[in-house]
Formats: sequence, structure tokens, C-alpha cells
Amino acid sequence: MSTLAPSTSSPSGYIAYCRPGFETECLADLQQRYGKQGQQETGPGWAYQTAAARSEEDFGKPQSMIFVRECVPVLGRLSLPERDRLTPIVQFLREHAPAFQEVWIEYPDTNEGKALSSFARKFQPHVEKACRAEGWLSDGPLQWRLHLFFAAQNEVFIGLRRVRPGDWLCGIPRLRMPTEAPSRSTLKLLEAFITLVDEPERRLKAGMTGVDLGAAPGGWTYQLVHRGLKVYAIDNGPMKGSMDGHPQVKHVREDGFRWKPKHAVDWLVCDMVEQPVRIASLIAQWLASGTARQTVFNLKLPMKKRHAEVARCLEVITDALDDAGLRYRLRARHLYHDREEITCYIRVGKD
Ligand SMILES: C[S@@+](CC[C@H](N)C(=O)[O-])C[C@H]1O[C@@H](n2cnc3c(N)ncnc32)[C@H](O)[C@@H]1O
Repeated sequence: MSTLAPSTSSPSGYIAYCRPGFETECLADLQQRYGKQGQQETGPGWAYQTAAARSEEDFGKPQSMIFVRECVPVLGRLSLPERDRLTPIVQFLREHAPAFQEVWIEYPDTNEGKALSSFARKFQPHVEKACRAEGWLSDGPLQWRLHLFFAAQNEVFIGLRRVRPGDWLCGIPRLRMPTEAPSRSTLKLLEAFITLVDEPERRLKAGMTGVDLGAAPGGWTYQLVHRGLKVYAIDNGPMKGSMDGHPQVKHVREDGFRWKPKHAVDWLVCDMVEQPVRIASLIAQWLASGTARQTVFNLKLPMKKRHAEVARCLEVITDALDDAGLRYRLRARHLYHDREEITCYIRVGKD
């Protein structure tokens, strides 16, 4: 089966978007995936690695990538004159004659990048008009998308990628802050549910029970309660706002490393700020003992050797689950709402 979009040539490489300050980790993710041969480069909020070939599974964000928000196969990279950015792009695309149904103009998640957002909005209809006139952009079912990633005002990576559910412009999920949630960190768990959990509406249902370790003031608890779960909220600190005294919430003022429920629960979430390897061991105990089947938790990142620390923590968990003979699915990601931490999701079981 052909793995390329109709009438396109092989890409020159892959551009990956990340949180500024995490370019080294983002590039390491790319290299782990596509090899270290060829050229690589990083700029604020992105990393680029040349690669010889691509396959169908390369489209989108492979599960093994932790620090990559979005990854796009690149057809080419152009320097653009200030007065006319469109003509060189159209000329370049003529050599490739790609077929696509959507155009995204993207930019890095930096202050300089954000300054490009109004340019992007204005530029978009011009690109679309030109691509339509050439017959590249059509109205058919949404299958392929042209990505123009402006690393700077005068520099663009031109990419083409298969459209996938859950794609976000610039790799940034735009989530609305629920007014009743007592803290902004509620968005982190919401993003985790949307991006890491398969079929979240099936896996988070009314009547289930969850535990939230390090729950106060209640932003994560809110996400569980909102989906109908009963929640044990473990924290010496106070629950606030709508989560203070909520009938679905049992607030327990205890140490999250010691407290255990009397019966197994469906979900464990954990946002305690602690040494990552301590959190990893705790999660491993809960899962390996069958106390919880699904979990979302944060691992705080060190200043240096972040990849190595993440690998060490995940190994603690996978070793414990393997020793217990359990099957599981594990995903780890540096979410948009994460700063100096990553978020992990693990589901134990076959389905
Ligand atoms: C980042 S805050 C959690 C924010 C919460 N997820 C939310 O959305 O509102 C971390 C919480 O972990 C709690 N914490 C830290 N160590 C703990 C421990 N050993 N046991 C229980 N809670 C702990 C702190 O009291 C603090 O409230």
C-alpha cells in the first residue's frame, strides 16, 4: 500500500513543536524515532531532524514521543522575502503538486511566535486562494492537511500530513476553563483525559470511584466529579469552592503515600509535588496490587537529564507491572498545560 499522499515526494525531514526550553528533549524524541543520521536543528519551540523515509505510522505523534506536541513530515524549508511570502511557497509547491483539503498556518509557542498569529490569520485566505487556483486544495473529505510552520517571519517549514482526530493548531489544545473548577490545574487533567485516554467517555463513567492524591484545592477532583465519579480526595490542605463539601467528594486529611482505600477503585489520579521516583513507586504499588486499574499522574522533571529521569521512573512502574504479570498501556506526554513536569496515563488490563 502506498504510504504517500497522491503526487508528493518524500519529505526532507520532520518538524516537531514543543514547549520552549524543551527543544533538546524534543529533538531526542525525534532522533529516537527517526535516527540521528542527517541534519538536526532546534529553534525556540521546535526541533527539526532530516530523515530518509517515512511510513504511514509516522504521521501524527507517535506514542513514544513525550516532549513532541506535534510532528509534521516536511517537504521543504524556505527563506522568504518580506514583501511577498506567498510566491516562493506557491513556486515550491508546484514542484510537489500536493493534494490536500485544509491549510494550517502555524508558529512556535513563544512570544515571537504568538506575534505571528495575526499575520497567520491574514495570510491564510491568500494561501488557500492560491492553492485552490492551482487545484491542490479541494473540498473533499478531510484527509490531508498542508502545514506551513513559520519558525520566524521570513522562514517557513512546508509540511503535509494526514489529518487525525485530536489535531490542534500549533499542537496546542484550546480548552475552556470550567467556571466551577477551583484551580486552573483542572485543565491539565482535562487535557490528559482528552489526549491520553482512549474513549474517555467509556472509561470515565458515573458510578465509578476515584482517588485523588494531593487533591487540594480540587481542580483534578472536579474533573472526576464532573463525570459522575465518587472521589476520595486525599490532602491535608483544604478543598475549595464547589469541591468543598461536595456530596460526591470525601475529603481525607491524610498522607497520600500512606492512605489506601478499603476496596479497589476504578481510577487513581495523583498531582502531589514530590520526587518523581517516589511517585513512580507509589503508582507501581497501587497498580501492581490491583488497588486501581487506571491512573493519570504527574512526574516532576529535574533541571537536567530529563529524559533519563523519566526513563528511570517509567522503568520502576513497568518492572513492577511486568513482575505482577499484568498487561497495560502506558502513555507519557509533556502536555501543553504541563510546565516542569510530564503527565502519564496507565491502564491495566486487556481492553
Ligand atoms: C499541585 S497541588 C494539587 C493541585 C490539585 N491537583 C488541583 O487541581 O487543585 C499539590 C497538592 O499535593 C498536596 N500534597 C503534597 N504532598 C502530599 C502528601 N504526602 N499527601 C497528601 N497530599 C500531599 C499538597 O498539599 C497540595 O495541595
